[in-house]
Amino acid sequence: MELSTRPPLFDFHGVSMIHYFTDNWENIQNFQARPDDILIATYPKAGTTWVSYILDLLYFGQTAPERQTSLPIYERVPFLESDFHILPPGTELADKLSTSPRLIKTHLPVQLVPKSFWEQNCRVVYVARNAKDNAVSYFHFDRMNQAQPEPGDWNNFLQRFMDGKMVFGPWYDHVNGWWERKQTHSKLHYLFYEDMVEDTGRELDRLCSFLGLSTSAEEKERVRGGVQFDNMKKNNMANYSTIPVMDFKISPFMRKGKVGDWKNHFTVAQSEQFDEDYKKKMKNTTVQFRTVV
Ligand code: A3P
Repeated sequence: MELSTRPPLFDFHGVSMIHYFTDNWENIQNFQARPDDILIATYPKAGTTWVSYILDLLYFGQTAPERQTSLPIYERVPFLESDFHILPPGTELADKLSTSPRLIKTHLPVQLVPKSFWEQNCRVVYVARNAKDNAVSYFHFDRMNQAQPEPGDWNNFLQRFMDGKMVFGPWYDHVNGWWERKQTHSKLHYLFYEDMVEDTGRELDRLCSFLGLSTSAEEKERVRGGVQFDNMKKNNMANYSTIPVMDFKISPFMRKGKVGDWKNHFTVAQSEQFDEDYKKKMKNTTVQFRTVV
């Protein structure tokens, strides 16, 4: 089947979606998680690939080094709800994984996650990124990825972001929903992109302790080096250069990898309007983000 370009957004259980993430819905909802599965959950462009690569190296960097040169990250860590027609659907890729644990990626808001992940009490790593940088990164991603809706100009895109009319719905509901789930699901590690940029080594230590891994200091240092932005950008197995719908001439997948790039995009007026709206939308939550480090 052909890949449709610039698919339209539609409402799906109250969340804006495109068909690539709903076509396989029955299999997604009935997906059978295993107790040792690790779910990597994020709002798009929050650092999913970075954390996926970190977990892959922590678990398989030493035991299966051939993975690092032969399998792109999206095959090692299947994207659960994806059904792009040019690859097998995420559920099928996950079912076929022979590794243990299985690392599985999702962008679903918490209320849409298949229930077996909760029934099996799986570990979850959630990565969140401040709204302004997240919006900027999403804008450039939509510009270069033909399988995403047309982004329009930055001003319109930003308004849509504030209105929550983005694929996978509002950023605000996403980060808050997962933050709340952390209060009841103790096996959820809520990680911030900004903390990873500030001190990747410290965040690796925290991750290992959450995962119950006794990775040596030497190995952790190796992982830290391998997942540095410049190294991932060069790494064809991690940089998405093998995906045909992405035009890196417009914007590369590994674009900047910084905190605070929003300052190069938001006008003062846009920033003030965004902050005012943000306060209202985030008034009932305790989750705190940093827009600079
Ligand atoms: P930018 O567009 O701001 O550069 P996702 O993997 O969720 O799609 O997120 C992509 C964003 O994470 C991009 O942000 C990308 O550059 C950034 N990223 C990926 N690997 C990174 C790394 N090793 N260090 C810092 N940022 C990284």
